[in-house]
Amino acid sequence: MSIDMLTIPAQCVTESRIQELDYNNIEFGKIFSDHMFVVDYKDGAWQNPQIMPYGPMSLNPATSALHYGQAIFEGMKAYRDANGDILMFRPVDNLNRLNISAERMCMPALPEDLFMQGLEQLLRLDAAWVPPTSGCALYLRPFMFATDDFIGVRPSATYRFIIFSCPVGAYYGQALKVAIEPQFVRSAEGGAGYAKAAGNYGAALLPARKMQDKGYHQLIWTDAKEHKYIEESGTMNVMFVIDGKLITPPVSTTILKGITRDSVLTLARELGYTVEERKVAITELVEAHKAGKLQEAFGTGTAATIAQIATIHYDGTDMDLPAVEGREISNRLATELDKIKTGQAPDPLNWVQRINL
Ligand code: COI
Repeated sequence: MSIDMLTIPAQCVTESRIQELDYNNIEFGKIFSDHMFVVDYKDGAWQNPQIMPYGPMSLNPATSALHYGQAIFEGMKAYRDANGDILMFRPVDNLNRLNISAERMCMPALPEDLFMQGLEQLLRLDAAWVPPTSGCALYLRPFMFATDDFIGVRPSATYRFIIFSCPVGAYYGQALKVAIEPQFVRSAEGGAGYAKAAGNYGAALLPARKMQDKGYHQLIWTDAKEHKYIEESGTMNVMFVIDGKLITPPVSTTILKGITRDSVLTLARELGYTVEERKVAITELVEAHKAGKLQEAFGTGTAATIAQIATIHYDGTDMDLPAVEGREISNRLATELDKIKTGQAPDPLNWVQRINL
């Protein structure tokens, strides 16, 4: 299907709900914009793309995604620049990762022209929902799930792909207290940890809740074999500045290939910082902290962008890190990245795609 041949029929709302939105007080993920893009897969092809009002859908109780978890998602953001234009950040990278997740979960790939046309049409229609406020964005949630009405265990023959969106502000309101997880694992080699599969997030809720009960906002996942090496933090990739170097675990089958992660590492290299993608042992963090060399720690993700970590707990001890305001590398990277996303800085790698309104 070529992009020129696609025209997506749209059924528009009769009255926008945008007056429900207070741009100065946006809570993450609670208010959804007026429309959604929906396309179904059956008989081996994506069919009947349409844009319709955001709202409930009817599903059969036997819908296979609800039973066996063939469900994957993405998170991406669109911003408004100083002229009021809408800018998407690295949308094709999200599609590529969606298709990597789809392959792992035995689901069909989504063609790029269908994804981009649905996304652009949706953004044009709901452009008013992209917040003009600094630090805010329109969060887009593309996702795909299995729709066969069948409870035998086999890959579904039918799927639905949807994109809806919601205006968002900061995901975390403060620097995080996190604790290194000594028992539970998020993913193991050969598993599906690199896929953005719904079940990975569901299985992480109990360990996170247990850490929250102990007074921490989130946890840091460690490797499944030995619990010796750092993997991710909560739903984010995680990075450290040790003795002036930016260090993060390498992507693997157990770690999500974060688009914010890649953007931050690319920018850091361009700005001349030393970047190391390598295993990070818990003992290295503990020793660096003791020696006063653990200068910064932060999570990276689409929703949170750069989430500062104030304290890391390990084995009965809280390691408090230097104050967030003085963190040279992460603060600079956050500012530079934000400038690119909002069209205030050159974009040599073409990360930003402008929507013609
Ligand atoms: C994102 O950063 O988009 C995420 O995946 C986090 C999300 C689960 C809120």
